[in-house]
Amino acid sequence: MSERWAETSLPEGWRLVVLEEAGSTNDEVRVRSGEAAGLVIAAERQNSGRGRRGAAWHSAAGEGLTFSVLLRPSEPRALWPRLSLAAGLAVAEALGDFGVEGEIKWPNDVLVGGRKICGILVEAGYDFAIVGIGVNVATREFPGELEGLATSVAIERGGEVSRGELLGRILQALDGWSRELGAGFPGVIRRVRERCALSGKRVRLRVADGVMEGTVKGVGDGGELLVETSEGMRALLQADEVRVV
Ligand code: BTN
Repeated sequence: MSERWAETSLPEGWRLVVLEEAGSTNDEVRVRSGEAAGLVIAAERQNSGRGRRGAAWHSAAGEGLTFSVLLRPSEPRALWPRLSLAAGLAVAEALGDFGVEGEIKWPNDVLVGGRKICGILVEAGYDFAIVGIGVNVATREFPGELEGLATSVAIERGGEVSRGELLGRILQALDGWSRELGAGFPGVIRRVRERCALSGKRVRLRVADGVMEGTVKGVGDGGELLVETSEGMRALLQADEVRVV
């Protein structure tokens, strides 16, 4: 393991593997999904990193923190979608430790000043969940299509941070919040509401039955997005795309 990852402080029983190169770290974890929970695979370079809706996740080698975590939540599977918010909260809180205040864009992006600093992709297997996280850390300039839409820790903080240390803080927080998908979830939601990037905003969403528009009223107790539309209030458990309009 290279020197800069030595600063990663792992929760008890968790293991970190750092690959120089991977297709997608989510796939690397899936291959080893028979192992105990707490396996973390990070990659210096991801050749086919992916986001939600089949989008690509780009991160220049050494500039981002791209990793995936194997979890086995003890709660019923129906509650696993809550992992997205738990992971977003973990990242936002860890960034806060470095002086970068993140907002959570339901269901699973972290923004700073309206620009994306982190994307999260949760995938589930029969008896495991993979939480894939990409954080823009050292990037100073984004390619044209991301300009104005993305930001990084270096831009927001005006200086570098150790990726290993940031990873450690995220994992510690994720270990805690990912255990709170049941009875402890109100604690997650209370903190998510304090960092909700969409509250009060007019949004357009792609949902199972089409495209809808409305004003976000907040996040419900189960993690659903509450949207006031011309036809009344809707509580959304999932949306493919959420755009502020
Ligand atoms: C999104 O914004 O749509 C989610 C992006 C998730 C990217 C991370 S990087 C580590 C892990 N491996 C992947 O292929 N994707 C996730």
